[in-house]
Amino acid sequence: MTRLPVILAITGASGAPYAVRLLEVLATHSVPTWLLVSTHGWRLLAQECGLKDDRELKKATGGDWASVRVFDDSDRGAAPASGSARTAGMVICPCSMGTVAAVAHGTSRSLIERAADVVLKERRKLILVPRETPLSLVHLRNLALAAEAGAVVLPAAPGFYHKPAKVSDLDPVELMRREVTPEVYREVRELWKAHSMAEDGRDIAGLIATLTPDCVYEVLPGGARWEGHAGATRFYTELLAAFPDVHFDLQNIIIGPQGVCEEAKVTGTHRGTWLAYPATGRRVEFRVVIFFPWDLARRKFTGERVFTDLSGLAG
Ligand SMILES: Cc1cc2nc3c(=O)[nH]c(=O)nc-3n(C[C@H](O)[C@H](O)[C@H](O)COP(=O)(O)O)c2cc1C
Repeated sequence: MTRLPVILAITGASGAPYAVRLLEVLATHSVPTWLLVSTHGWRLLAQECGLKDDRELKKATGGDWASVRVFDDSDRGAAPASGSARTAGMVICPCSMGTVAAVAHGTSRSLIERAADVVLKERRKLILVPRETPLSLVHLRNLALAAEAGAVVLPAAPGFYHKPAKVSDLDPVELMRREVTPEVYREVRELWKAHSMAEDGRDIAGLIATLTPDCVYEVLPGGARWEGHAGATRFYTELLAAFPDVHFDLQNIIIGPQGVCEEAKVTGTHRGTWLAYPATGRRVEFRVVIFFPWDLARRKFTGERVFTDLSGLAG
């Protein structure tokens, strides 16, 4: 089946990192993509991401642009300007208020504006990711006009429910939209197997090899936190010092494009201090649910979030 191209337009509103991330996901999934960047889109890519040209943008989005075709925004005769060139639709991310106005009024003075006009007239999907604050009545009216004409207005307004610790946690691509392809499933499963085998073999270097350099380990609800490869090494060293015979007995596992979630029964002899719990010398058993978030671009786990009740460790 031939997949129709998605038009991705990047215009001069703040939020260039959203565009870079979106393009990275499209390119790494080999989604046919027609890329259009306005003059001010480039200005924002340079200012917010340090990316000056196609070559740098390509490198920042995974390096493989086999599915990406670049168009010059001044070329109003290029394929995206014509309704007969079939596309899956268009995303303008980020979308300046200037471009919102142009879309709302069908001005078509650049390839981006014309492509959006075509997408609307052909009743294809147009997604606008506007960024401006505060919004004037002009902005609001233009957004309403675009929405009335069929555009989806999707402001870059990330939720904070998952307590993001860094900007990259504000992933603009909703995790839920990731596809569970057999390849991704196998890759995540193999990574988890490598991680677990290293854990069983007390092979800390092997464990670290499955983690991104900025990985984070957390034990919740207490909130204890270890950062980076050095932090992950400390997490395991401290765990193995506290429970030299620690054993994870896997009860359940879910593998998906967001990572792995496992439920396990942990047993071990409490020989050293673990978090706030001094050694009891007792044989202990507790249940854990561990989430291993998987980084789509770097193809490794970004750490572990361990949910457990450690009150049984109290002396
Ligand atoms: C550093 C910088 C940041 C800007 N941020 C925004 C913004 O967040 N939202 C917006 O609507 N316009 C913003 N602008 C203004 C637009 O870039 C400007 O209106 C431009 O003409 C839009 O053209 P384009 O839509 O063809 O890219 C910004 C401009 C600069 C130079």
